[in-house]
Amino acid sequence: MDEKVLYSMTGLFDTPDQIIEAAEKVSDKGYTKFDVHTPYPVHGMDGAMKLPPSKLGYAALVFGLSGTLTALTLMYWMSVIDYPNIIGGKPFFALPAFIPIIFEVTVLAASVATVLTMLFVFFKFPNNVHPLHDTDYMKAVSSDKYGISIQSEDPLYDEAEITVLLGELGAYKIEEVYYDNDEVLEKHNIFEPKFIGLLLVLVILTSGTAYFVLNKLMFLPPFNWMANQGKVIPQENHTLFADTKGMRTPVQGTVARGYLPYPYSGQPELAAANLANPLLPTEENLALGKSKFNTFCSPCHGYFAEGDSRLNGKFPNPPSLHSAKLREWTDGRIYHVIVEGQNVMPSYSSQMTREERWATILYIRTLQRSLNAKESDLQ
Ligand code: HEC
Repeated sequence: MDEKVLYSMTGLFDTPDQIIEAAEKVSDKGYTKFDVHTPYPVHGMDGAMKLPPSKLGYAALVFGLSGTLTALTLMYWMSVIDYPNIIGGKPFFALPAFIPIIFEVTVLAASVATVLTMLFVFFKFPNNVHPLHDTDYMKAVSSDKYGISIQSEDPLYDEAEITVLLGELGAYKIEEVYYDNDEVLEKHNIFEPKFIGLLLVLVILTSGTAYFVLNKLMFLPPFNWMANQGKVIPQENHTLFADTKGMRTPVQGTVARGYLPYPYSGQPELAAANLANPLLPTEENLALGKSKFNTFCSPCHGYFAEGDSRLNGKFPNPPSLHSAKLREWTDGRIYHVIVEGQNVMPSYSSQMTREERWATILYIRTLQRSLNAKESDLQ
């Protein structure tokens, strides 16, 4: 309390117009180290004080741009170099798809870094002491008065002159503010080991209590009896079997439903002789055959089996199915082509069930009949 240092000369005003005028006059006189304190932001104050634009904008720009760059490089590295995947047919480097993330990271980086820069660089956090703190002046301007404070550091500082100037402008309570050097230079307690230690103890205490209460005192087994079932899960082990494998290889000779083995593989003549169409040419079967023929056969053979492929030029055109040879082939022989394919024509056994294959053959017969009708068909 003994060593008091002069900080500034302060004056209070009653209206915002007065403080604007005061700021203008003071800066016009050439004072540079002064500040204005108002209970709320007063419009036009930075102009009146002749303040240069804040440098905070540059920090925002730099951090924003580095956010843009980070997002862009990160996505480029992930989707072009490290894990290139075609997504929705887009190129690996799909800028339009990157824009939302670039935007978000830019905004995030700019805003967070701006706040931190303001705190640590401009406000010099953790410094929290200022000579004006706790003065009557500060109490007045944070309630309903408007104040100006001209610092003793200002080269033009002259007690008498400033007193006259502020008086002319209509200020009252023109006073000098002193501060205690020791107090301002004092090291702040925020990062002291004792304080950090206290924080650590608090962290351990609260998390320990929470853990004990929730996991020991009030613990209820989670509701999971639908997830844990005794059944055998594919790819998992199970104690039911000696080798613990949940998935079993089928017993030798097992035939899966709908997968009867084809006995005439590579033997078209045997197929022709031994296979007979089990279906009758009912309306229902012909409708099924037509539908399957149009789906699976017509792209190459044409809707009327004339070999006029819709894939013209992209796949060798097949021969017409109306040839004398085909009309003489037994149903079993055509069935063999559907199951095994023939030269460039692939097998259709996985796309069509046995019933569908036979129905398709019935439909092919109908198509053949339509171009080569018998005398008896007319009666
Ligand atoms: C991808 C095109 C394509 C599709 C689809 C296709 N075929 Fe073929 N088919 C061919 C070609 C090409 C040939 C001629 C193969 C050859 O050179 O022996 C052929 C030949 C045939 C033959 C023998 C003709 C002959 O004169 O030797 C029959 C029968 C036949 N197809 C029936 C069918 C049936 C039934 C379907 C539908 C289940 C079908 N094809 C679907 C391309 C196709």
